[in-house]
Amino acid sequence: MHQFIKLKSSRLKTLLPLSFIGVVALGGVFAWYSLGDNRGYAPDQPIPFSHKRHAGDNKIPCQYCHSDVDKSRHATIPSMNVCMNCHSVIRQDSPSIQKMKQLIEQGGSFEWVKVHDMADFVFFNHKRHIAQGIACETCHGNVGEMVKVEQKEKFNMGFCVNCHRDNPLNPELKASTNCNTCHH
Ligand code: HEC
Ligand code: HEC
Ligand code: HEC
Ligand code: HEC
Ligand code: HEC
Repeated sequence: MHQFIKLKSSRLKTLLPLSFIGVVALGGVFAWYSLGDNRGYAPDQPIPFSHKRHAGDNKIPCQYCHSDVDKSRHATIPSMNVCMNCHSVIRQDSPSIQKMKQLIEQGGSFEWVKVHDMADFVFFNHKRHIAQGIACETCHGNVGEMVKVEQKEKFNMGFCVNCHRDNPLNPELKASTNCNTCHH
């Protein structure tokens, strides 16, 4: 009996740390899989800027504001001067617009919170994709319906490589799947 308990407890002593390692490893695996999955991320912005209101209801083209998207790697967020092209006249009564004008007079500008933020070890280039006629919606969802921008796609390796291997928009055009296309 005494022997048995001893055996059991010594087993427990080895089993406990093992299961602890197991739990940690499992947690690690979950963390690994969820890494970079920011679907649904929709942070609050310094003022409630609505894409639905601008790009949707009022049909302002995406590139009116994101003017570098077809010229460079980055889409760029518009400067406050772009906003004032319209808001020096439109909706002077709105507290948000008044807040914006005040900030500009003080020489400041809003610090928009980044929605999409891919890992630094991945290289992405808007220009190359826009030149191939790939719509914003393919990667960003229907932004014109969003009151608050939300990440729609999981920007993991599969999302990028699947289209590079089999471009559904143009099967003739296969983009590179070499590792150094996206990692360099
Ligand atoms: C009137 C100007 C304006 C128009 C038009 C506009 N945007 Fe934006 N966009 C902004 C501003 C300002 C931000 C930053 C604040 C925010 O995220 O809401 C932004 C943010 C974004 C973001 C998130 C950027 C990030 O941080 O990851 C995406 C994606 C985006 N816009 C796509 C689009 C698309 C697609 C269209 C057309 C359907 C469009 N935008 C039209 C002004 C505009
Ligand atoms: C092939 C996929 C793809 C397409 C098409 C695409 N984007 Fe993006 N966009 C991304 C990715 C990926 C990021 C995040 C980049 C990063 O974090 O380095 C991003 C980020 C952004 C940002 C944040 C600023 C920046 O450049 O990092 C804005 C604004 C944006 N996109 C607007 C647009 C607009 C407007 C269009 C259409 C004219 C468009 N995107 C088309 C994948 C795409
Ligand atoms: C091409 C013209 C145009 C540009 C550029 C523009 N807006 Fe607007 N904005 C509008 C229109 C039109 C409305 C809707 C007015 C209404 O509903 O009465 C609006 C509404 C708004 C509202 C809602 C006001 C409220 O209290 O209901 C905010 C906030 C706003 N815009 C912020 C911005 C910001 C920030 C920028 C720059 C990133 C910007 N706008 C650029 C035309 C524009
Ligand atoms: C819907 C299809 C599609 C998606 C999604 C897509 N790509 Fe692409 N990608 C293309 C096409 C088509 C080209 C253009 C090939 C060309 O110009 O010859 C391209 C080109 C590129 C290039 C330039 C290659 C070069 O030779 O300079 C890079 C880098 C790139 N993609 C990275 C990415 C990354 C990172 C993602 C994911 C965030 C992504 N792509 C998502 C279709 C796609
Ligand atoms: C079309 C673009 C693209 C190509 C080609 C590509 N990758 Fe990736 N890779 C990505 C993206 C996007 C991620 C995810 C980054 C994140 O999670 O934020 C990634 C992530 C990774 C990671 C980190 C682990 C993970 O899965 O998140 C490794 C390692 C990696 N890639 C290796 C490779 C190797 C090796 C090749 C060549 C066989 C390759 N990649 C080709 C876009 C690409």
